[in-house]
This record gives sequence, C-alpha cells and structure tokens, in this order.
Amino acid sequence: MCKNRSPVIVFMPNREMDIRNSITVLKPNHSQEVSVLHADLIPGLLQELGYPMIHLFYETALKSEHNFGFVDFRENKIAGFVFGTTAISTLYKDVALRRAFPIVYQMFRLIFKKPQKIGLLLKVIFYRTYRHQTGCESELVFLAVNPPYQKLGIGKKLMTHFHDYLIQKGISRYEASVEIENESTQKFNEKLGMQLEYVYTEFGIKRLRYSFDLSTCQNHSR
Ligand SMILES: CC(C)(COP(=O)(O)OP(=O)(O)OC[C@H]1O[C@@H](n2cnc3c(N)ncnc32)[C@H](O)[C@@H]1OP(=O)(O)O)[C@@H](O)C(=O)NCCC(=O)NCCS
Repeated sequence: MCKNRSPVIVFMPNREMDIRNSITVLKPNHSQEVSVLHADLIPGLLQELGYPMIHLFYETALKSEHNFGFVDFRENKIAGFVFGTTAISTLYKDVALRRAFPIVYQMFRLIFKKPQKIGLLLKVIFYRTYRHQTGCESELVFLAVNPPYQKLGIGKKLMTHFHDYLIQKGISRYEASVEIENESTQKFNEKLGMQLEYVYTEFGIKRLRYSFDLSTCQNHSR
C-alpha cells in the first residue's frame, strides 16, 4: 500500500443515490484524490512506483490538450474516474520531458527507501511503449471506481462521457489494455461492448487488448 498520503475513505453509499448529475471534467486539481484511488485500485507499473510518482503523472498529464478524463463525485469525494488520451504514443514521454527533475528526484528517493526497486526503475527508464498493431492513438488509459461505489453504474456512466468526448472530437475508435488477471475489468469491458483484439506481453505481463468502435454507439444521453 502507499505511504505519504491520506487513505481512501470508505463508507457505505446510499445505493439509491441519484447519479445523473455527479460527473465532471477531470482537472489537474483532482490529481491528488485520483492518485489515491489509482494507487489503491489500478495494478501496474505506476502503482509499483508509488503514490508520489502517480501524483506527478496525473498533475502533469492533465495539463496536456491530448489527455482528458471525467470524475464522479459522491458527497464531495471522488468516487470514480476515467483518464484517456488521444496521443498514447507520446503520453509517457511527454510527462517525463515536462517533469524530468521531479521524476529523477522521486526515483532517487525510491532507490534510497526501497533499493529492491532498482530493477523496476531500470525498466521504466528504458520503457518503450508497446507498438500496437493498429497504431490507434486514442486510448482508455485508466479507469477506477472506489469499491463501496462499484456496481452502481458509475463506471458505465463515466464511459458514456468518455465516448461522448471522443465522438465530439471526431474520433471513431479507441483501444484499451487489461491485465489478464484483471477478470472483473474484462467482464466490465465486454458488458460495455468492447471487442477483444489480441493478447500481448509487456514487461513480462500478459495483457488483453480491446477496441471500441464509436460509430456503433447508440445512446449517449446523460
Ligand atoms: C472496472 C470498474 C471500473 C467497473 O466500475 P463499476 O462502476 O463497478 O461498473 P458499473 O456498475 O458501471 O457496471 C457496468 C456493467 O458492468 C458489469 N460489471 C461491473 N463489474 C463487473 C464484474 N466484476 N463482473 C461482472 N460484471 C461486472 C455490471 O454488472 C454492469 O452490467 P449491466 O450494464 O448489465 O448492469 C471497477 O470494477 C473498478 O474500479 N475496478 C478496479 C480498477 C481497475 O481494475 N481498473 C481497470 C484497469 S485501468
């Protein structure tokens, strides 16, 4: 689990709560709360690097016009979020270039505190974004809903806003990757209508690649 941050606040939601007007655009000032959710809920490289690096990522990425997202608020707290990009091939490189000094500082800090993470950091330094077969630049990068609020339709609602945004930009397709072990997200993706394209391996982890054809979207009303 992550340090240097406040824990995810867990309380039982009112399951009858109206979710129609709870969604807003993800902004850099949401990055602290979103990073807490990410650190707790989204497995992967960023999670292994820890909360300070996740926070740097969102704070920086959300300043780029290519990246976007939405958050769902419950009782003034973020219950879920979606983060996407229309330029996946440059997303991580762009963040690294914009915030090179704080990132290097956080890396040294991590080595000092957890020397066993050196292997992981070397992977990150020599990171090459996996070249996907289609060359699709639009991607659903991260999506999470705080467990007390899961299965209430929040993930689906966030994705409706995500789809509407891309359609408004004239984009007709996006892709997403899910770790092979993350069966619950695979089920969610399939419920949403995503198509499984292929299985690939990145950093020794098997992932499923999904695509979504936005021209087949029927209902985007809020
Ligand atoms: C994936 C996730 C975002 C889904 O959010 P959610 O708010 O619980 O999803 P919703 O309530 O909107 O569900 C939408 C549909 O998917 C189905 N669904 C959601 N989770 C499911 C699961 N674990 N198993 C089967 N179906 C599931 C729902 O039943 C619903 O179906 P319906 O439209 O027929 O009613 C959430 O489970 C999560 O945060 N997971 C952890 C983070 C993560 O792994 N993110 C992905 C990597 S970036």
